[in-house]
Amino acid sequence: MTAATAAPALRVTGLSKSYGTHTVLRDITVDVRAGETLCLIGPSGSGKSTLLKCLNLLETPDNGEIWLGETHLTAPGADVDAARARIGMVFQHFNLFPHMSVERNVSIALTSVKGLPRDRARETALRRLAEVGLEAFADRRPSQLSGGQQQRVAIARALAMQPDVMLFDEATSALDPELVKDVLAVMRDLAAGGMTMAVVTHEMGFAREAADRVAFMCDGRLAEIDTPGRIFERAENPRLRQFLSQVL
Ligand SMILES: Nc1ncnc2c1ncn2[C@@H]1O[C@H](COP(=O)(O)OP(=O)(O)O)[C@@H](O)[C@H]1O
Ligand SMILES: [Mg+2]
Repeated sequence: MTAATAAPALRVTGLSKSYGTHTVLRDITVDVRAGETLCLIGPSGSGKSTLLKCLNLLETPDNGEIWLGETHLTAPGADVDAARARIGMVFQHFNLFPHMSVERNVSIALTSVKGLPRDRARETALRRLAEVGLEAFADRRPSQLSGGQQQRVAIARALAMQPDVMLFDEATSALDPELVKDVLAVMRDLAAGGMTMAVVTHEMGFAREAADRVAFMCDGRLAEIDTPGRIFERAENPRLRQFLSQVL
């Protein structure tokens, strides 16, 4: 089944969120289909990070529903911890534990949250590290790795939990330019491998090539959602055209 016809892995309807009197998300309705890569673009302050945080239940929406497959995450009494374990999140700042080895950073949640025996957790961690090209670094400390390598460890850490969906919030924005491409390559591999992903990014080249659809956020609204071809080559929305003229 291709992403265009697959069932939604993640479905958001009528999502709103305010901080005090400041409305940050306005009636967002969007889905991410199984196996799809949805890129979220838009100006700073448009609500992209808040949307991802709502998806991961790090923020509580004021209105609207979020469904992960058949599970209603915003239902009263929903098992938030169980839901979060199915969603991998990669932030701009990777927050690895400095006193643990790279391997332990990846395996810690497998032993502490999933209850795997230490040797099996290590095995899984090494496999995930191999996927991001870092198996040889397993026994180093994070401080001995470049920023780009550390971010790839953070991706391996999220993948180790076998999430249904991966969320990325500007995963490459804090990196030196020459380190960005290795992280994007890992993300491209994941997308090509059929992972379901929602990716907030300023990397328009990545959005153009790796996204199945691109969503443009503006003033807390999802202003446009379409194929990369239509977003980047044939945009009509004036706010989108203006945004693209600034970033391309
Ligand atoms: N915890 C918070 N408290 C108050 N305002 C917030 C909070 N988080 C985000 N905001 C505001 O919400 C708006 C959207 O922020 P954000 O989702 O971070 O946008 P983006 O990721 O698109 O740059 C901004 O105006 C920001 O200042
Ligand atoms: Mg943000």
